[in-house]
Amino acid sequence: MGKKVVVFGSYVADLTGTGEHLPRPAETVFGETFRIGPGGKGSNQAVAAHRAGADLRLITKVGKDVFGDLALAFYEKERMDTQFVLVDEEAATGVALICVDEKTKQNQILVVPSACTRFGDRDLSQIEDIIRNADILLLQFEINMDALEKAVDIAKEHEVLIVLNPAPAREVSRELLSKIDIITPNEMEAKALTGVEVTNEESALQAAQVFHRMGIPSVVITMGEKGAFYSGGSGQGMIPARLVKAVDTTGAGDAFNGGLVTALSEGKELEEAVRFGNTTASLSVQKFGTAPSMPYRREIDREEAAADLR
Ligand code: ATP
Ligand code: RIB
Repeated sequence: MGKKVVVFGSYVADLTGTGEHLPRPAETVFGETFRIGPGGKGSNQAVAAHRAGADLRLITKVGKDVFGDLALAFYEKERMDTQFVLVDEEAATGVALICVDEKTKQNQILVVPSACTRFGDRDLSQIEDIIRNADILLLQFEINMDALEKAVDIAKEHEVLIVLNPAPAREVSRELLSKIDIITPNEMEAKALTGVEVTNEESALQAAQVFHRMGIPSVVITMGEKGAFYSGGSGQGMIPARLVKAVDTTGAGDAFNGGLVTALSEGKELEEAVRFGNTTASLSVQKFGTAPSMPYRREIDREEAAADLR
């Protein structure tokens, strides 16, 4: 059994419509398809890690409503532990309004995390033990920042490895960043936090060096179909993405992060864990949706074995 992974993050219901292009400001576009499914960066990453085989606990929050019921039914079907899926008495379950361009597969997202912005002191006392006893804590930015900061402090005090996926981009203190062990921004988030425009391996290295100077030992910058750059642990370099036909890249970063922490929980080095993250994400972009598109371990192993033969 691998090390214990805890994901503390958002659940939201993804309301996804596809159309022939993304609406411009004040424009209405006719859509082609519409689906409702489980989403939210925290939940997606937890599902990815669970399906990839990690010993996983998810801490999240839903409201007492139909979207909250959808979350619980999904976790039950996935056989995921729901002990730390907290229920807010007042706030609604979060939602994300997602538009996907059918041609380019690009998306735009308006996320309203609602219940997940209301982790209070009582919730923290309920989840303190599970964080303290974890080996790896994975966080994102779709929960209230004061709760995130407290979780980081608990983890730091108990020498839990802290992995931060700083998404979606938002302002954050240098003090918080200095407590992170591994940061996993995409190109835009890397630019927002370091000021470096990341477009290739060279600029990714520059951004990584800024993160290192902030006190973060390991950096992984995901770069869409180009793959991911890593710096830290045994070295640095670009690990190319798998060449696949993407049908929906929403949640690619979540698949990557779930795969990455699973590999780390199995004792893999950073470079190998990035490779595993790439494989996990490449399988997820070939399916529609976010959490439902996360691959199972047998699919990841099959893909890695096939790649070794190529
Ligand atoms: P999102 O916000 O949509 O979840 P992201 O911007 O956080 O995604 P990306 O950097 O776009 O994350 O992608 C994460 C990883 O997913 C990449 O490092 C790569 O491994 C994989 N990936 C993304 N797009 C593709 C693609 N078209 N083909 C193969 N792999 C892809
Ligand atoms: O990373 C993709 C996720 O971000 C979607 O599932 C949506 O919920 C948004 O929060």
